[in-house]
Amino acid sequence: MPLSDLISTGKMIRARLILAIAGTSIKAIKLSAIIEMIHFASLLHDDVIDDSDMRRGERTVSFRFGNKRAIMFGDLLYSKAYLELSNFEDKVVKSISSAVCSLSLGEILDEELSEKFNSSSHLYMDMIYKKTASLIEASTYCAGVISHKDTDKLKEYGKNVGLAFQIVDDILDITASEEEFKKPVIQDFKNGKCTISYIYLYNSCNNQEKAFVLSCFKKKLNKIEGNKITSLFEKYDSIKYSYKVANDLIKIAKNNALNDEFLISILDKIIKRVS
Ligand code: FPP
Ligand code: MG
Repeated sequence: MPLSDLISTGKMIRARLILAIAGTSIKAIKLSAIIEMIHFASLLHDDVIDDSDMRRGERTVSFRFGNKRAIMFGDLLYSKAYLELSNFEDKVVKSISSAVCSLSLGEILDEELSEKFNSSSHLYMDMIYKKTASLIEASTYCAGVISHKDTDKLKEYGKNVGLAFQIVDDILDITASEEEFKKPVIQDFKNGKCTISYIYLYNSCNNQEKAFVLSCFKKKLNKIEGNKITSLFEKYDSIKYSYKVANDLIKIAKNNALNDEFLISILDKIIKRVS
């Protein structure tokens, strides 16, 4: 069965960035494939961990074929990626290996943080850096290594793109429709994930409101509770604030985009995306 029948390929943002930076040499194409295989593997495992039924508008591999197969398929993709990676120069191998360690630590942190209400934006930013930004940062850095471009700037670009991307993803869990987002919405808070908008909301609230927000944590909300949370989001402009944080990161990315048209154009799409 071709891979495309098994899992929808998604936006391939990491591969697009690598090819935009390093061109379409065989080496750059191989690097893109390695990164996308690692990314697919991590999503296959993440869907098992999160018990998710839908991803990218389709049933997840774990839903269709069971957790065992999803984990083993992830292991296969991950191992194949490493086999191919071993042909690259040291700097590339080390950067990607280290990013995969971060990715795994980020996933562990995400799980740990979801055990109780997290109101620390510092812990949240550290977790999303590890879970999402580290692999995007490694992708743009390694693309710079193989194409002899400014790796410091490209690393900074990738890190900020990754952070903004995850923040927007977390905002869309609250604001998008299921059709737009291509996966179920309003899942994070119910699953114990205090994303940036909830953290900002909680820290803005008075004591009575704080107690209400805490009472909603990890709960399937009824209509009245849902409406009350929505009105608190409006009262404190939590979504606007979260977009501002993402926009500030995008500005840093722009300053490190080497004046490259594609690298700049993708920034706007990250902020405006709905899926
Ligand atoms: C999706 O985040 C998950 C990740 C970006 C990283 C997952 C990492 C692992 C499972 C560990 C590494 C494993 C391997 C094989 C390299 P999310 O749950 O916030 O987003 P979602 O709503 O799209 O699921
Ligand atoms: Mg998940």
